[in-house]
Amino acid sequence: MTTSNHKKAKVLCLSNHKGGVGKTCSTCNIGAGLAKRGKKVLLIDLDPQANLSLSLGLTEVEKNVYFVLLNQCPIEEAIYNITENLDIVPSNLDLAGAEIELSSEAGREMILKECLNQISNQYDYILIDCAPSLGLLTINALTASNEVYIPLQAQYLSLQGISKLTTIIEKIQRRLNENLKIGGIFITQYDARKVLNRDIAESIEKYFSKDVLKTKIRDNITLAEAPGHGKDIFRYSPKSYGAEDYASLCDEILTR
Ligand SMILES: Nc1ncnc2c1ncn2[C@@H]1O[C@H](COP(=O)(O)OP(=O)(O)O)[C@@H](O)[C@H]1O
Ligand SMILES: [Mg+2]
Repeated sequence: MTTSNHKKAKVLCLSNHKGGVGKTCSTCNIGAGLAKRGKKVLLIDLDPQANLSLSLGLTEVEKNVYFVLLNQCPIEEAIYNITENLDIVPSNLDLAGAEIELSSEAGREMILKECLNQISNQYDYILIDCAPSLGLLTINALTASNEVYIPLQAQYLSLQGISKLTTIIEKIQRRLNENLKIGGIFITQYDARKVLNRDIAESIEKYFSKDVLKTKIRDNITLAEAPGHGKDIFRYSPKSYGAEDYASLCDEILTR
C-alpha cells in the first residue's frame, strides 16, 4: 500500500567522511524499514563504489545516478524497483568522475536537489547514501536534504574529524540550505561487552547530548551477511538483532 500523495518527500542523507561506519548498511535498512511501514521510499546511491546498489542486488543496470547528474537522462529513467514501496537510483564507478565534470557548472551544488524535485511528490522519504568524502557529491546531498544523519562507531578516533563534517553542515546551512537540520547521530556496530565501546558511547552521548538517537545499532553478523544475498535485513533475517535495531531506529526517525 502506498501512502504517498502530492506532498514533497522528506529528504534524509547519511553522511560521515569516515569509511566503514555503517552509512550504506543504515541507508539500506532504514529505507527498507520505512518501506515496510508503508512509506514510499527512494534510495539514492551517491557513492561511486556502488555498495548500496550491490547490497540490494543491482549489479548490471543501464542507467544510474551519474547519467542523472550529468543531465543525460531524466531521473525517472534511472529508478529501479526493489520491493513494494522501495525504489533506488543506483550508482556505478562512472560517478567517480562526476565531481570534476560538474565542478565548472553554475549552481553545481544544487544539481541533485533539482533532480530530486522532479520526483519528490512521488515519495514519502528519499534517503541518500553518501561516499566517504566531503567533496561536491556530499555537498550536493547536504544541499538537497532536510536532515542529515551521522552514523558513528564507538571507537577511539571515531570523533576525529567529525568537527570537519559539522563545519561543512554549518556552511551549507548558511549558504545553500537554511532548512538543513541534524536529524541525529547514532552509534553503529556497538558491542556492549566491550568496555571501550561502552565508554566511548557514553562520551558521545555526553558531547552531542540531544542530537544522539537512543537506538544503538549492535554489532550483528547478519547485517554484514545480508548484502551478499542482495537483501535488506528485514527480508534476509527478520528476527535478527539487526532487524530489531533498525526497526527501532526507524521508529525514532519517524517521530523526529
Ligand atoms: N551493525 C553492524 N554489525 C555488523 N556489521 C556491520 C554493521 N554495520 C555495518 N556492518 C558491515 O561493516 C562494513 C562497513 O559498513 P558500511 O555500511 O559499508 O559502511 P560505510 O558505508 O560507512 O563505509 C560492511 O561490510 C557492513 O556490512
Ligand atoms: Mg558506504
